[in-house]
Amino acid sequence: MVATLAAAACLVGMAAFPRLVVASGRPQRAIDKAPFGRAGEQPVEIYTLTNIHGIEARIMTYGATIVSLKTPDRAGQFRNIVLGFDSIDAYLAGVPYFGATVGRYANRIANGRFTLDGKTYQLPQNDGVNSLHGGRQGFDKRIWSATTSQTPHGQELRLTYVSAAGEEGYPGALTAHVIYRLGDDDTLAIEYQATATAPTPVNLANHAYFNLSGDPTHPILGHRLTLNADRYTPVDATLIPTGELRSVAGTAFDFRAPYEIGSRINDSDEQLARGHGYDHNWVLNQQQPGTMTLAAVLQDPDSGRSLEIRTTQPGLQFYSGNFLNGKPAGNGGSVFEYRTGLCLETQHFPDSPNQAAFPSTLLLPGHVYSEKTILAFRTLK
Ligand code: GLA
Repeated sequence: MVATLAAAACLVGMAAFPRLVVASGRPQRAIDKAPFGRAGEQPVEIYTLTNIHGIEARIMTYGATIVSLKTPDRAGQFRNIVLGFDSIDAYLAGVPYFGATVGRYANRIANGRFTLDGKTYQLPQNDGVNSLHGGRQGFDKRIWSATTSQTPHGQELRLTYVSAAGEEGYPGALTAHVIYRLGDDDTLAIEYQATATAPTPVNLANHAYFNLSGDPTHPILGHRLTLNADRYTPVDATLIPTGELRSVAGTAFDFRAPYEIGSRINDSDEQLARGHGYDHNWVLNQQQPGTMTLAAVLQDPDSGRSLEIRTTQPGLQFYSGNFLNGKPAGNGGSVFEYRTGLCLETQHFPDSPNQAAFPSTLLLPGHVYSEKTILAFRTLK
């Protein structure tokens, strides 16, 4: 989706937003800022956004990362529904993109290579032969600058990162903005905008691992998932799409009605074997490219938490946490076991720079990359 440059211009110069008391006796609508340690020499800050129902999102400037997201279950009990850590050190020790903004190109690019205007660009091959999530030092490992504001639609945190020309092998400088907006309608909107000084592929996505039970020791196999997609992109042995848009009908990839994630994950299926479970991109059913569309509904029948995801993006990578292995991540001592979190990454299709038939991810100078995803937190009866 491409908008005008004027839309990006209004992203600059926002002032800090003080805590706002809505009414006594009710949760306070607020944005608070606190230190969250250091990444090398650079200070990291964490922002806490709260809405009038007490829903709380904590987001840090390292990786523009959602650290925690507290929502109520059907009895009104608030718990954190994303995998994350209380200390920056755990993230610095290396975690698989927990809650982070991934870029400059989320997902895989085959052999870490693409050609633009006759020139071949080589990216870091950090996932076997492929490049994954922007390379070795992707946007998830960068410090973003932050401003906050109040809007009629909720509390806003705007994070900005300027990626230099040539960083991780990508052409042109890219100025990227991620805007998190927590509304009193119990939604967290995530907006992405970017401009470039030279033609470059761009694909920005959030990599939160959800566990709606609020208990990160509890596997996600009992969650029920619906995906608004008639087709998905099957992959080769290195998880690069073959180019086919395959019908989900009659397969374990058909989530057009709610299915328990665990119900078919062990089916004998070449694609499930290649992904070690689900680790694929679904082709969302959109009326028009770039229009906001219902993408996914995730429900935990036990806690009664439900998450609805809408997006302007054409694809959704559903990853069932197959590489979580129970090893301590970081020095906080926390462990996240196999399949105790799942990702629903709204994004463009993997390897689009090498697949001419996929929706284009090319951003040209003078244009604005613009995408939006809305997470809505609901409860079941
Ligand atoms: C993505 C990929 C997975 C895995 C995770 C991080 O979602 O599709 O294969 O690499 O990131 O572990």
